[in-house]
Amino acid sequence: MKAPNTPPRIRIAAAGKRYQQHQIFENVDLTVGEREVVAIIGPSGCGKTTLLRCIDGLIPLTQGEILIEGSPMLAPRAGVAMVFQHFGLFPWKTVHDNVAYGLKLSGISKAEINERVPHFVKLVGLSGFEKYYPYQISGGMQQRCGLARALATEPRVLLMDEPFGAVDAQTREILQFELLRIWEDTPTTMVFVTHSIEEAVLMGDRIVVLKGRPSSVHEVVEVDLPRPRDRATLLLPHFAELREHVWGTLMADARQAEFDVIKNN
Ligand SMILES: Nc1ncnc2c1ncn2[C@@H]1O[C@H](COP(=O)(O)OP(=O)(O)OP(=O)(O)O)[C@@H](O)[C@H]1O
Ligand SMILES: [Mg+2]
Repeated sequence: MKAPNTPPRIRIAAAGKRYQQHQIFENVDLTVGEREVVAIIGPSGCGKTTLLRCIDGLIPLTQGEILIEGSPMLAPRAGVAMVFQHFGLFPWKTVHDNVAYGLKLSGISKAEINERVPHFVKLVGLSGFEKYYPYQISGGMQQRCGLARALATEPRVLLMDEPFGAVDAQTREILQFELLRIWEDTPTTMVFVTHSIEEAVLMGDRIVVLKGRPSSVHEVVEVDLPRPRDRATLLLPHFAELREHVWGTLMADARQAEFDVIKNN
């Protein structure tokens, strides 16, 4: 049970990021509770990856603050794991050693590492590939390896940047349901970026729509679909309503961009 006065897992307050003259996002406010799953969606280049990196403490904000469990994220820390958009695997380490990496850092014994790694490797369907190097496996397999590496540390906060962007449609669906199942067993706070509206609706408790230049939170959509979610969720009329709603929000921009291109030619 949650103790009184426990700070939220993640608190983002008046956050902004600027690179030289270029303000990427501004005035971002977001509070995420324990066990909550938040999806971030928005047009390419609007600053989703940048925001996620700020939450992980990999890069500093230029305005505002980000607190995890009450303390500012000024550098990456134990308990907060990230799955990178471009996998972020160590090319000189095998699948086994990549998955073991976070565990080694947290000082877990070799015996326990050798016990835990195969479990997570199996979970993402990479059994038999433990001795392979990243260049010897496909993009989708590399992405699954990145997911196993993050899950193996059993983080309290899991940040994921398009975690299934590089896998084929069938594998993507399998992994989405697998991740939901893992989450039901070991509830963690998840914030993930996706380009897939369906993925956002299927997995999220809330969907944060980032838009504009500089971008900020344009809308927060509450996903009031029952959990646990599974394939049947995809068939619910309310699933379709939520999907259409988010689609409409995002398409307004895409239509405007298309209109601008036509007008300027
Ligand atoms: N290190 C950097 N220096 C300068 N500008 C940067 C840097 N990193 C990102 N940017 C700029 O910040 C903006 C947002 O980039 P970001 O990668 O966060 O977008 P994104 O929303 O994740 O896009 P996508 O959906 O394509 O992954 C882009 O205009 C990018 O050029
Ligand atoms: Mg990105």
